[in-house]
Amino acid sequence: MKAHLDLKSVCAIGLSVLGLSLSACGGGGESGPPQPPPPAPPEYADKHMPEGYWTDAAVIEEGQKIFTGQQNIDVNCASCHGKDGKPVKAGARDFRNTEHMKLFSDSQWFWRVSEGVSGTKMKAWKSKLSEDEIWKVIAFEASFGLKGQKYDPEKKAWVPAN
Ligand code: HEC
Repeated sequence: MKAHLDLKSVCAIGLSVLGLSLSACGGGGESGPPQPPPPAPPEYADKHMPEGYWTDAAVIEEGQKIFTGQQNIDVNCASCHGKDGKPVKAGARDFRNTEHMKLFSDSQWFWRVSEGVSGTKMKAWKSKLSEDEIWKVIAFEASFGLKGQKYDPEKKAWVPAN
């Protein structure tokens, strides 16, 4: 199934037939209704948050240290995304936007943090962070807009964490 292409054609059709604004399909920016990210590529599709991480206070605290550059000065997510999830650099994703962040699965978040988003300031972090560290930083990020929730890969939805 060419899901990626399909998404593009949906956008193209949307643009021509429904007259949707270009920004809505362009990715990036926070204007217009939130758009789902493309599906994670096959090598990431089966990656899921380790059991218990969403609600583990020690994990979330470690994630916060990574996010704010306290663990490694070269990895400072907060320099763009803001300490409290409120973006400080134009175009950075607003993690407080629950409606938008809900459109990501755990695999999609993991993929984006690992590989970055080409053509944007969001770079690939997999050379600087281990898989475990990436999951920890995601557990922290989720606490801005999706506090008390976890992604359920079976239901393919965010559900209450407890
Ligand atoms: C130099 C600025 C910058 C830094 C540093 C940065 N990001 Fe981003 N990030 C961005 C921008 C810009 C986007 C929006 C990309 C787009 O348009 O899809 C983004 C998007 C994201 C997204 C959503 C992906 C998507 O599909 O939109 C996640 C998740 C994310 N960043 C996590 C992180 C994490 C975790 C770190 C630290 C390891 C980090 N970012 C560091 C700028 C940054």
